[in-house]
Amino acid sequence: MNFPYQIKSLEEYHSVYKKSEEDPEGFWGEIASNFHWKKKWEKVLDWNFIEPHVRWFLGGKLNITENCIDRHLQELGEKPAFIWEPNHPEDRVRIVTYNRLHKRVCQVAQMLKNNGMKKGDRVCIYMGMVPELVYAVLGCARIGAVHSVIFGGFSAQSIADRLYDAQAEYIITCDGAYRGGKDIPLKGVIDDALIGNRTIKRVIVYTRTRTPVSMLKGRDVWWEDEMDFAETQVEKDGVVSFPAEETDAEDPLFILYTSGSTGKPKGVVHTCGGYMVWTNYTFVNAFQYKTGQIHFCTADIGWITGHSYIVYGPLSAGATSVMFEGVPTWPDAGRFWEIVDKHKVNILYTAPTAIRSLMGFGLDPLNGKDLSSLQVLGTVGEPINEEAWHWYDEHVGKRRCPIIDTWWQTETGGILISNLAGITPARPSWATLPMPGVHPVLVDENGKEVTEKDTHGLYKGNLCIKYPWPSIIRTTYGDHERCRTNYFATYPNLYFTGDGALKDDEGNFRITGRVDDVLNVSGHRIGTAEVENAINMHAGVVESAVVGYPHEIKGQGIYAYIIYTGHQNDPDLNRKNILQTVSRVIGPIAKPDKIQFVSGLPKTRSGKIMRRILRKIAEGETQNLGDTSTLLDPGIVEEIRKGRL
Ligand code: PRX
Repeated sequence: MNFPYQIKSLEEYHSVYKKSEEDPEGFWGEIASNFHWKKKWEKVLDWNFIEPHVRWFLGGKLNITENCIDRHLQELGEKPAFIWEPNHPEDRVRIVTYNRLHKRVCQVAQMLKNNGMKKGDRVCIYMGMVPELVYAVLGCARIGAVHSVIFGGFSAQSIADRLYDAQAEYIITCDGAYRGGKDIPLKGVIDDALIGNRTIKRVIVYTRTRTPVSMLKGRDVWWEDEMDFAETQVEKDGVVSFPAEETDAEDPLFILYTSGSTGKPKGVVHTCGGYMVWTNYTFVNAFQYKTGQIHFCTADIGWITGHSYIVYGPLSAGATSVMFEGVPTWPDAGRFWEIVDKHKVNILYTAPTAIRSLMGFGLDPLNGKDLSSLQVLGTVGEPINEEAWHWYDEHVGKRRCPIIDTWWQTETGGILISNLAGITPARPSWATLPMPGVHPVLVDENGKEVTEKDTHGLYKGNLCIKYPWPSIIRTTYGDHERCRTNYFATYPNLYFTGDGALKDDEGNFRITGRVDDVLNVSGHRIGTAEVENAINMHAGVVESAVVGYPHEIKGQGIYAYIIYTGHQNDPDLNRKNILQTVSRVIGPIAKPDKIQFVSGLPKTRSGKIMRRILRKIAEGETQNLGDTSTLLDPGIVEEIRKGRL
């Protein structure tokens, strides 16, 4: 494929950025014309950040799967779209060519249609990292149904909440999933989520682990049977076809739930046209993708990184994506390096938490692994500390691979701030420059742009974006007001990211982390309020307060202060019981790392918990706790300080 919009030098970056500022509509119209549209748009952009109301490529009609598959078939039909590496290293690798992907996606689309699904329906996908997950996602997109992928680490209760919120009627799942030494019973979790449910019409179950599962007559069907039948419908005389549904550029493509500062996760909605253009543009430019390269993004498709940089970005560029079923440390900590060696990976995209955890195993796991195929490295999900950056550079990239530090969010759909590999300069722990079309600003608490530098000569403030880019969040499903209050109401006329950042005179950004009550644990977002709600559901818990603290591997750990009046004879068991409740309510990913039982919480006279103090204690700062005179009971601070874990 040709990418006339790939930026090839630093000078070109600056001129392209300027062009995107001066004439955004002309700029994005030109880029969008490189895709396959069933009908061209009438207007490039219509927006205001007040309602908010953002529409890109108005009136344009397309189907994203034609852009990710069909348009490549002639040139790349027999080239691999996916190389699938199974959890067990001795199992068979699966190579999925674009032709094969086309066939499978057509079959899934037919299967979904046979089972009553149609354009606009919400389909929940709860599967392990198997190629069938990609077929399911793209099969939904083929018929214009809206996929909502739920990460395999979420509990039955979380699934039930999401199904209800999305008003989903269909589920695609697996009997189970392999993750390292574990075998996770996905269908069993779905069954728990569906107890008492009357709205789910169909559950399609793909066999992966051969774990025994219950199959309810009239509701549950096997993927294999349905796909076999669909095959007879989509393939005639060796020719495979299933017409791609015409969707509007602004029709929803998917919903993905993410945590915010309030108790309930939000369903972030992305649309077909803008999301396609942005994931492709950023894939081609940030990674500097060259035709034929093998791209390995280690994320799970349950998160936005997997959606954008395992599925839509790479496929829309005709790339080969490596999809890995397992975990980096199983059967040993050399797994990533073995995969790079085995599949001759050129681009590796992973999270700082994975790098830190692998660093902990020393250099032995790297020995004997040929990493010479690597050309570009990337990180995402959280700030990368300099030590991890240098380790990645020295021991993985051997100092010859540019590292890109890509800052973005579920709500942004794709990368917003990042250096472009080998084109714009990298700087350890700095995300550096915005992508063309992205206009970040730093503001103070009153929303005023920061114009004064701090003592280090840097601008410091809350990170906002002042102009829409094609894959900006359109709404939170079923509750547009929530979208407005969460992202567009804190500072008028600005999209507020929830992150704090620093900026230098050259316009480089360094992201410092969340400024709201959202934690980033191993690159996963978790709201403190969400964890508190789960803890408070445990019998005997009176009240709790959750804060983050620096964690060597996870980036942030979860520290919970809990007032507990249940049985007192076995605090250790009480802790474990509370962890069970959190696992049941949210999922194991939200389990606190530390639980401190306290007799009270530091509150102001108006009853507000002073989290600043709790955060400081959790961080190990026990001396300078700041002003505690406004507390209702200053004595409690001393007790908490002494009992710190
Ligand atoms: O705090 C930022 C952090 O991750 C948050 C977004 O989380 P999520 O929606 O789960 O998406 C993660 C994958 C895109 C951001 O608000 N974050 C993400 N990338 C970086 C980062 N922090 C610093 N540097 C990054 N490169």
